[in-house]
Amino acid sequence: MNGPHIGVFDSGFGGLTVLRALLPLIPEARYTYLGDTARLPYGAKSRQTIARYAVSSAKFLEDQGAEMLVIACNTASALAMDELKASTTLPVLGVIEPGAEAAAAATSNSVLVLATQATVQSHAYLHALHKLGLQATEKACPLLVPLVEEGWIDHTVTEQVARIYLTEALDEAHAAGLTPGTALLGCTHYPLLRPLFTRLLAEMNPTPVTVIDSAETTAHKAAAMFPLSQPAIQSSFQLEFYATDSTQKFQALGSRFLGQPLPEVKLLDLGG
Ligand code: DGL
Repeated sequence: MNGPHIGVFDSGFGGLTVLRALLPLIPEARYTYLGDTARLPYGAKSRQTIARYAVSSAKFLEDQGAEMLVIACNTASALAMDELKASTTLPVLGVIEPGAEAAAAATSNSVLVLATQATVQSHAYLHALHKLGLQATEKACPLLVPLVEEGWIDHTVTEQVARIYLTEALDEAHAAGLTPGTALLGCTHYPLLRPLFTRLLAEMNPTPVTVIDSAETTAHKAAAMFPLSQPAIQSSFQLEFYATDSTQKFQALGSRFLGQPLPEVKLLDLGG
């Protein structure tokens, strides 16, 4: 196999959903994935800190020989894209525009963006959706990342928390005169809660709401940069994983996001 070397970066293992979508589209690529788990959550940090962490992570991937960077982290894509692009000559693809495009393909109604505090405060999704002619409201759901990190995917506490966030989010959208047709999961961890969001929104909203995330669209955008890629026929891929905190936890929880067991995960120290 002689494909491109793609560096995939997230603050943790949620970005593995993007890698999962990339694998069948660019099967011949070599992938190096970095989860900056020691410094997660990015979503509660300032723009400067997020940019510093993201740039040091991207530099590591470039040093490993990556020829392209996929920023699978919504928070880093929303707040650090300028710094990331300024720090490297490699092509850098984030998840915000692909996520907004996925929403535009799914709805002509308004969009409900669910994301981390930092992503919501940046209004990156709002601006990207406005550019595509869509109206949107945004809701920060900060408690969901630690719940997913804990593996509480089907837990009643997670359901209660999600219900509270969605009630507030729908109330805010309705108060703004909007009727969301799509919920955009603007955080790497939320796709694991997609069945829960889908069920709750069907219960809570009088009209149907399509739940989407940016993983698939981001992967298709990346694939478009390598037009010679063939559909996957092999079952093994060239994968290398790095985490900045417990590799055991990364391996155990990461398999849920990747949809297959992870091989060895190497420990990396990027400092503070
Ligand atoms: N990866 C982050 C995102 O997609 C979620 C986890 C974090 O806050 O670091 O926004």
